[in-house]
Amino acid sequence: MDDNQIKSYRKAGKIASRIREWSRSLIQPGMKIIEIAEKIEEKIISLGGEIAFPVNICINNITAHYTPKFNDKITLERDDVVSIDMGVHINGYIADTAYTIDLSGEYERMLKANEEALKNAIDIIKPGVKVSEIGSIIQKTIHEYGFKPIENLTGHEIKQYDLHAGISIPNIEVPYKWEIEEGMVLALEPFATNGYGRVIESKRAEIFSLLENKPTRLREARLLLNEIEGRKKLPFAKRWFCKKINPMKLSLILRDLVSNEILKEYPILHEKENGIVSQFEHTVMVVEDGCEVITH
Ligand code: CO
Repeated sequence: MDDNQIKSYRKAGKIASRIREWSRSLIQPGMKIIEIAEKIEEKIISLGGEIAFPVNICINNITAHYTPKFNDKITLERDDVVSIDMGVHINGYIADTAYTIDLSGEYERMLKANEEALKNAIDIIKPGVKVSEIGSIIQKTIHEYGFKPIENLTGHEIKQYDLHAGISIPNIEVPYKWEIEEGMVLALEPFATNGYGRVIESKRAEIFSLLENKPTRLREARLLLNEIEGRKKLPFAKRWFCKKINPMKLSLILRDLVSNEILKEYPILHEKENGIVSQFEHTVMVVEDGCEVITH
């Protein structure tokens, strides 16, 4: 990695961690999740970053890929467990970080297990370590507290403008042979649950990304594709376009673009037995003798 890339990752990481800490005070009963998402996204821009993906706000059994819809009416309740996942990029170099707040006060041990699993994973990362060892330590840590990791969600390698590039970092022990190499940028994101330990897809999606730009005759579809062109293949939210394109029409266009394999959709994921889920995430840069946590 050259100096410019390292600088960009560090800058993205600094902004992401600043906003992560700042955003904690927004997670309160009565807060509308659409306001939380918009405030975080505005803050990313105002601090000189760009939005790598729509802010994910996942409540209780919802595990991933929930970003508020246009005019979303959901407000946080007194007993919610709320996970915030955000991404900042500088010239396409992405810092991805997440945390969970337990408003109920009933899941402190699960959150502790989850945070500790992330910390233990970070502690062993250095060139030559197998990803299976990372999965194993995450699983062991969460099990020790009596909870389960989500087995079918993984951490991921990050490359410029590519959020899920290269290798996956499992959250359980699996016989993957991949090894960590110097210069890799990795998003580590263990999830913990009191449920089954798997996620399943729902039918609804609010997040999309470009697969392949192809000609389309629909005027609004072209407008949408032009707007997202600058994002390359980074994800976007449906709500970002609801002021420019009638929401009903937008739904039809998105469905059409997905079925024509121009866009990819990210269905909302929830826990298989609707267990409560937590998530903690950091992005790290692998160096000669360990890793640098860019989102600390
Ligand atoms: Co993330």
